[in-house]
Amino acid sequence: MSANVKATNVTWHEGVVSREQRQDLMKQRGVTLWLTGLSASGKSTIARDLERKLFLDRRLCYVLDGDNVRHGLNKDLGFSPKDREENIRRIGEVAALFTDAGFITLTAFISPYRQDRDNARKLMKPGDFIEVLVDCDIATCEQRDPKGLYKKAREGKVPEFTGISAPYEAPLQPELVIDSAKLGVDEASNVLMEYLREKKVLL
Ligand code: ADX
Repeated sequence: MSANVKATNVTWHEGVVSREQRQDLMKQRGVTLWLTGLSASGKSTIARDLERKLFLDRRLCYVLDGDNVRHGLNKDLGFSPKDREENIRRIGEVAALFTDAGFITLTAFISPYRQDRDNARKLMKPGDFIEVLVDCDIATCEQRDPKGLYKKAREGKVPEFTGISAPYEAPLQPELVIDSAKLGVDEASNVLMEYLREKKVLL
């Protein structure tokens, strides 16, 4: 981990309400569904659709989204490997807090580096971190290009653009793979919903 530890003379305080008690109250287990994939692969769209379905099912869910988080918490970070590492480190910590709080936490970040995702996984208990590869070939992503960034990247106007001039390291053993070039949004979010039921996240 790259975080510079400057916090000394600090003491960890245990809460009086346990995670299990929160779980009983909320009738769900806190988890993080960590969506990773190329820009325009469908991460945010699938996350938002699942959020809607979970809400209709009266479940508490929260989406942490790359573009949104970079408007606030991470607005001081760019797209160099070091900045992306710090982006994912902070999000990993935030997702771990949401998970402990009992939320079904959905993250939608490219998170292109395997090591950074593995570090986020290590912050959580086994079973709490569910890595989902939103798998879509770059040609399809480039065709979608909802933000016009692939076009700009091809013109050399966006440096270090993932898939074009910066790497994407797909997970080797993700818990789930969503083929978002083939599956529609509704089908994709259903796969995730089914997984949450099967793993008794929804109590
Ligand atoms: S990550 O690589 O650090 O995980 P993150 O998911 O937060 O990236 O942000 C990706 C979003 O930022 C993309 O969907 C795109 O809208 C925008 N973006 C701007 N510049 C770049 C770039 N160089 N590479 C990838 N995405 C970029």
